[in-house]
Formats: sequence, C-alpha cells, structure tokens
Amino acid sequence: MTVNHALKLRSRPDGMVKRDDFEIVEEPAREPGDGEFRVKVEYVSLDPAMRGWIAPGKSYVPPVELGATMRAFAAGIVDSSNHPGFRPGEAVAGMLGVQRYAISKGERCFKVDPSRAPLERWIGGLGMPGQTAYFGLLEIGRPQPGETVVVSAASGAVGSLVGQIAKIKGSRAVGIAGGPEKCRYVVEELGFDACVDYKAGNLAADLRAACPDGIDVYFENVGGEILDAVLAQMNLFGRIPVCGLISAYNATAPVAGPTNFRSILVNRLTVRGFIVFDFQEKIADANEQLGAWHAEGRLKMREDVREGGLEAFPDVLNLLYTGGNFGKLVLKL
Ligand SMILES: NC(=O)c1ccc[n+]([C@@H]2O[C@H](COP(=O)([O-])OP(=O)(O)OC[C@H]3O[C@@H](n4cnc5c(N)ncnc54)[C@H](OP(=O)(O)O)[C@@H]3O)[C@@H](O)[C@H]2O)c1
Repeated sequence: MTVNHALKLRSRPDGMVKRDDFEIVEEPAREPGDGEFRVKVEYVSLDPAMRGWIAPGKSYVPPVELGATMRAFAAGIVDSSNHPGFRPGEAVAGMLGVQRYAISKGERCFKVDPSRAPLERWIGGLGMPGQTAYFGLLEIGRPQPGETVVVSAASGAVGSLVGQIAKIKGSRAVGIAGGPEKCRYVVEELGFDACVDYKAGNLAADLRAACPDGIDVYFENVGGEILDAVLAQMNLFGRIPVCGLISAYNATAPVAGPTNFRSILVNRLTVRGFIVFDFQEKIADANEQLGAWHAEGRLKMREDVREGGLEAFPDVLNLLYTGGNFGKLVLKL
C-alpha cells in the first residue's frame, strides 16, 4: 500500500504562521478512479498568497477549511493513471496541495517538459509567478519604450521577471529590494538599470536618483511605505498594476492606506488590482512567450529550493515575509 503524508490546516494563524497551525496526517494514498491520475509530488511552491488562503473572510478564493490539506501549486511525476491524457512517468504541475501524493482529474494541472527546464521552475518563472509578471506588466502596466518601470520585491519570483520583461519591451527597469546582495543580483545578473535598497534608509532620495525622469509604471508587490514613496514620484497618466501587498499579509491590526493617495488624482493614475487567473483565456500565449524568452536566454530565473519535507513548511513559508528567500521559494519533498 502506498502511504500519503498530507499537511492539514489545524488552526487559523494570528500573525506569522506557526508549526502548531498545521499537522501532518499519514493516510493511505488513494488509487485514481475513472478519469483520474495520481501524482507523486516532488516540489511544493511557497507563495505569499498562502497566508491569505488560510485567513478567514472574503478573498478571491474561499479559505482553506480547517482539517483540509493545505492548498498549493506543486510539481511532480504521474505514478498511476486512469486518465487518457496523462501517463505514468509524465511530469506535471498544478494545484496539487502540500502532500506527497495527489489525485487529479487534470483540471488546473498541466504536463510540463523537464528537458526544457528543471521541474521546480514550472511552478516558478515558467508557471504561475511568471504568468503573473507577464499579465500584470503587459496587460495593465503597458510599458512603452523609454518609460521607467519600477517593481518592488524585485529579486523575487514575480518581480525578477517584471523588470526583465520591461527591458525586453525597451523600458528602463528599476527594482526595489531588501539589502545590497539582492540589489547587486537584480542589476548585475538580471540586467535591470538600477535597484534601490529600501532597507538602506533613504528610499525617497535613492528612488529619485534611480528614476530621474519619474516613474511611469509601478508594479506593486509590497504596499506600505514603499507604495507611498513611489506614489510621490509617479508621472502623469502612470499605471500601477496592484499585484500584491505582502507587507500587510501578517498584520494583526488594520493597516492604514497611503498618505500620498492624492497622487492618483493629480497625476490621473490608473491603479488596478488583478489576480493572475483573470487572464486565464490568454494563458497559452503567456506560456509560449515566457518559454521562448527563457529558451533564448532573455529571462533568467532563480529558485530557492529548501529541504526538510512537510515539517519544514511553516518555517519555510515565513521566509517570504521576512525577505529570507532569494528567488522563487520552493520546498523539496
Ligand atoms: N495577483 C496575483 O495573481 C499574484 C500572483 C503571484 C504573486 N502575487 C504577489 O506578488 C508578490 C511577490 O510574490 P513572489 O511569489 O514573487 O514572492 P517573492 O518576491 O519571491 O518573495 C517575497 C519577497 O517580498 C519581499 N517582502 C516581504 N515582506 C516585505 C516588506 N514588509 N516590505 C518590503 N518587501 C517585503 C521580500 O523581498 P526583499 O528581501 O526584497 O524585501 C521577499 O523576499 C506578493 O505580494 C504576492 O502576493 C500576486
């Protein structure tokens, strides 16, 4: 008998997640029924949104229920199948959950090609985070040649691709990241024009020096003080795709809005929130373009793969909210 280990939600966290908020349950791995296949999960994606998925209240998806397996994108290998489209041995990625064996009907699960990129990259730059950067920047930010595009969390899974795509489109790319090592990587390895270390204590002045012509597109990943500093330097008719607000995901009290909100009015800014699934009908185009740029060496991607299995999940997840990750954060099972 094949045994599954699944990470189940035990309680809703207050602030950062704790080990006690989850439990690992050992259970028989179900055999696939008609039209189903079973995946042996190898890599689980750690995404900032997970903190929202386990919080109570209204969001863009229903919360993970207490006692349920933690929701997650993951990648693995089909180990048995009664589905005509998926054969044992094939590599797949999709919403498989934080567990060793997952059953799928093929919905929101895709075959991937490990000969083109390592398995973990298909839940990173070639998966959901890459699609997020692509749609948010191109559909909402609409960067023009010569414009200045700023992105926060610039060394991370989404941000690293936003700046590189902005460069492909002929814009000037400026990152905001925490610490000199990440900033150096963003400029020297990823090819951004500049990167501002928001932890250095001179955010407004450093941003002005990095963006002498002002900011036309701000790809928002963080919120809080960084958003405020950027709002003060936006150009007329600028665009702000609101992708994420990670600085507030673990807040235990209401978070105040930006004090420079007035900039939206006087600069006639377009500020639009989005979720990657909003662009589902264009997903094939995004995947093809991201794959082509990656194959041409025009998009560099970096994964931060952590060991420790299911037990390590809460501690590894918290790295996202402290800047402890460097690249797309992934847990190897
Ligand atoms: N809308 C969508 O559909 C969608 C889809 C995917 C992701 N997202 C959002 O995109 C953003 C980036 O996600 P990702 O997966 O690419 O994560 P990531 O950037 O790889 O990792 C998160 C990074 O956020 C930064 N950060 C954390 N707390 C911060 C704070 N208080 N102030 C400033 N920076 C902070 C840290 O970088 P530093 O060390 O540089 O501070 C950290 O490494 C998140 O907000 C996420 O929710 C949205």
